[in-house]
Amino acid sequence: MLTRRSFLQRTGAGAAALAAFTDDGPARLEAAARGVEGTSAWDVARDEQYWREIQQAFTLDRTIINLNNGGVCPSPRVVHEALKRYLDISNQAPVYHMWQVLEPNIETVRRRLAAAFGCQAEELAITRNASEALQIAQLGIELKRGDEVVTTNQDYGRMLDTWEQRVRRDGIKLTKVSFPVPPKSMDVLAERLLSAITPATKVLHFCHIANLTGQIFPVKKIADEARRRGIKTVVDGAHAFAHFPFSAADLGCDYYGTSLHKWLLAPIGTGFLYVRRENIKDLWALTPPPAARNDDIRKFEEIGTHPAANHNAIAEALAFHEGIGIERKAARLRYLRDRWAQRLAKHPKVRIHTNLDPAHSCAIGNVQIVGIPTPKVVARLWERWRIIATPIVHSEYEGLRVTPNVYTTLEEIDTFAGAMEEIAG
Ligand SMILES: Cc1ncc(COP(=O)(O)O)c(C=O)c1O
Repeated sequence: MLTRRSFLQRTGAGAAALAAFTDDGPARLEAAARGVEGTSAWDVARDEQYWREIQQAFTLDRTIINLNNGGVCPSPRVVHEALKRYLDISNQAPVYHMWQVLEPNIETVRRRLAAAFGCQAEELAITRNASEALQIAQLGIELKRGDEVVTTNQDYGRMLDTWEQRVRRDGIKLTKVSFPVPPKSMDVLAERLLSAITPATKVLHFCHIANLTGQIFPVKKIADEARRRGIKTVVDGAHAFAHFPFSAADLGCDYYGTSLHKWLLAPIGTGFLYVRRENIKDLWALTPPPAARNDDIRKFEEIGTHPAANHNAIAEALAFHEGIGIERKAARLRYLRDRWAQRLAKHPKVRIHTNLDPAHSCAIGNVQIVGIPTPKVVARLWERWRIIATPIVHSEYEGLRVTPNVYTTLEEIDTFAGAMEEIAG
């Protein structure tokens, strides 16, 4: 009998086609990991055979080159299948299957996310995105008229809008500092924020990694000094978690919000909020819980009826992520970023706005073609090559934000670099 497998083998469709029709992704990931056991992350980053297995774990549209993984990412097939499976189960009788069978398993997700982040499970609330996570902190911290929040003028627009609303509503003061792009040292970033502190400052709000350029901040240095001065720190980690290696102990902040539909590759509509244990009881929830829950991290999850599928499928995303390993993932992302950035940096009309030192950045890079407006470059890349990149036009600089992911191929990176050279030329 002609089985599906023998059909594919006979037709020569091979491993790639098999992967598309079967659900053997996790087994292939495991086999690929066994194949590189004992090899350094640096060497694995250059092992195309290994990354081919990862590339094939996704169901992508390869007629486009998606270099905007800073926005929101596709999930690997196993994660998307888990999401759909949980939705199907929920729909049988949601009051039973969703609320009683699936929802309680959010505790497994909490425990595993906390282990990956390096905090206690009782300090981690699961949210729908980084915006919600950060807004719980931003709107829940008790502040009175005249209290000051210090942030940067390169923080995420929605997060700045959230503080601006508190300026209008509560009469707090918002100070936005500028910092050089790219900075020569991490100390410059700490110094800019810390030197803006005044006796009225109650909160520092800044990115773990800036979304505009991919600049990593020296979080611990800033958070430790803020704590010494009795100031709370809200860290926007939307782009950091599962992107490069770190743990909560390396940060030392009070509140940390991240998206999981970016670098963890979890379903769209997932994030988490970390609240340092001692801060939970004094942080007001956005959606009020019963008073008895005031000291419980779950008070931030009282959002009414919502799908259990999204947050439960985070567990599958964690398994995929851990199957690669954060060291290998970060090494590969830096390898991809450096491949285009080092090539383009040689071009006289190109300016790279990201410090390529691994301590300063990872997958994200920002590049400008001097003399051509960035939106025009973005439009040309799309029209001619079907390449997606993000235009960043800030009052102090402009450029394209380029973000590959673990599924990006070298051919895609090289097509992008060649396209940029052609446009610059
Ligand atoms: C720095 C930063 N903060 C917050 C967010 C908001 O993330 P989300 O859309 O997951 O709420 C983003 C989104 O791109 C971001 O780049």
